[in-house]
Amino acid sequence: MTVQAANASFGKSVKEFWHALLLIVPITLRWVWMLITNINQPQVKKSEMIWDMLSKNMDRYAQNEGLKKFEVSRDEKLKKYLQGSDVVLDYGCGTGAIALKFADTVQEIHGIDTAGKMIEVAQGKAAERQIENVDFAQSTIFDERLRSESFDVVLAWGILHLVDDRQNVINRINDLLKPGGLLISATECLGEQKTAITSLLSLLMKIGIFPIMLKFFTVSELEDAIICADFQIVQTEIMADNPVSCFIAAKKTEKTTKQQNSSKELK
Ligand SMILES: C[S@@+](CC[C@H](N)C(=O)[O-])C[C@H]1O[C@@H](n2cnc3c(N)ncnc32)[C@H](O)[C@@H]1O
Repeated sequence: MTVQAANASFGKSVKEFWHALLLIVPITLRWVWMLITNINQPQVKKSEMIWDMLSKNMDRYAQNEGLKKFEVSRDEKLKKYLQGSDVVLDYGCGTGAIALKFADTVQEIHGIDTAGKMIEVAQGKAAERQIENVDFAQSTIFDERLRSESFDVVLAWGILHLVDDRQNVINRINDLLKPGGLLISATECLGEQKTAITSLLSLLMKIGIFPIMLKFFTVSELEDAIICADFQIVQTEIMADNPVSCFIAAKKTEKTTKQQNSSKELK
């Protein structure tokens, strides 16, 4: 490696670390304040509270220089896979940034998120922009009102590294998709490589001051879980390397559909 290339690579790492700090530090400081003021709340409640807290500034955080570049790449990918006739589930929709942006590309989008305040923000934006083919609900992927084989696409953008029961969640996504339906995901694969950022996150989680319980796994572990749920991977792309963020598009296999159909026939 030339001295110039080494300097450029060092500069890139410092810049990425700085952008990550600009996100992590204010979030952590606000959380510490919340921790102090809600010291007696159980851990589960505290995790819910952090997402509610983040809802106020989620759209502003998305403008962080370190994250903004991903928006262009995200939009290209979504344009490639979304179609005008699609009925879409936006799982972990947050403040509805994706659903509202792509509402005019598809037939309808239904956003779900466990954080009530995220949903309030999303609903407010939809009403303000008079977008009628989207709706948002505070819910989980296991909500029984979500019907099997009723979606053409399930978006799981920035969510699979947050769930406890990854395999069950991916199985459920498969169940919700119509035959040949698509899972479109972007996931932080924090187990892929140890960096200053992943070590810092891990430490902050261990000592109990980083609020979000991130799950550490590799890209191939994620791919295995998706394949195991009877998907065929259509595209895998590393979108960022520190920490590793992985885009995966996967199609519900015919095998699943046939199996499901024959088990339905038996009933
Ligand atoms: C990183 S944000 C991503 C938001 C959105 N997908 C986007 O890309 O703008 C993760 C979202 O997942 C939600 N979330 C976390 N755990 C969840 C779960 N188990 N079920 C549904 N939503 C969840 C959080 O409330 C938060 O809004």
